[in-house]
Amino acid sequence: GHVAVLMGGTSSERDVSLDSGRNVLAALRARGIKADAVDGIPNLVRELQSGHFDRVFNILHGNKGGGEDGVLQGLLEALGMPYTGSGVLGSALSMDKIRSKQVWLALGLPTPRYVRLERGADVHAAARELGLPLIVKPACEGSSVGVSRVHGDADLDAAVELAARYPGELLVEQLIESDRGAAGEYTIGVLDGRALASIHIVPRGGWYDYNAKYVAEDTQYICPGLDEAGEAQARAMAERAFAALGLHGWARIDFMRDRDGRNWLLEANTAPGMTSHSLMPKSAAAFGIAFEELCWRILETSLP
Ligand code: DAL
Ligand code: MG
Repeated sequence: GHVAVLMGGTSSERDVSLDSGRNVLAALRARGIKADAVDGIPNLVRELQSGHFDRVFNILHGNKGGGEDGVLQGLLEALGMPYTGSGVLGSALSMDKIRSKQVWLALGLPTPRYVRLERGADVHAAARELGLPLIVKPACEGSSVGVSRVHGDADLDAAVELAARYPGELLVEQLIESDRGAAGEYTIGVLDGRALASIHIVPRGGWYDYNAKYVAEDTQYICPGLDEAGEAQARAMAERAFAALGLHGWARIDFMRDRDGRNWLLEANTAPGMTSHSLMPKSAAAFGIAFEELCWRILETSLP
């Protein structure tokens, strides 16, 4: 077999994806797997037409040309080409944070209160409904691109203006606060339907934005992030959240933990980052699964 490690693409997360992709490619090769990099969906189509590959490891991040939103998955399904990660429905639902929340709410899973903001709608009305502080974000981006944390009415319009630079709907969401301000942010990897270890993210600036994710070296990661009972609770929630969206293979589920120790689901990432700063590898490592092994295990779960 010959594996295409699909990376790059045209989304706002292109650079992150290239970084993830190089790591995955090196890991697969170190395992003796014949694998090569392919940048973006149009190049993949050409390569597939030439019959060069018989499996795709998808490490594209983001929507549209990004390849994390179900469009690529539909193409590969139609071609009968095995690929890693979730299928059409799970990818599409997860790329759209509003639809993810609607599914979770319908099944009784906890997620912060929210308002879906139509373009041009009054964000101040949404703020009155939810109360401050709150989060404004594009519904279909990743890596915190276009996200603002709003503590005062005066900052609402600028937050909407920033989020509206990206395509799709806008999400206004209640900010869940922990004892330590906004530092109650957690994530947990899921591999083949089974949750790994949680990570408590403590960014130096108190806010886990793009810079804290990929640039700064001072973000602190505590893994496992919870005590034994907390881990069991988080794992159960993550596995239910994964199943609710119909996910497959692997994903990373982001959540917040409030002052009372209750967990609140934020989103599912169906092609999580695999950079040296990324959390899926840390979550797996704390569960005893090293990076090479993780990549191999993900490959093994390829659909169909
Ligand atoms: N969207 C980024 C790549 C992540 O979730 O890790
Ligand atoms: Mg995301």
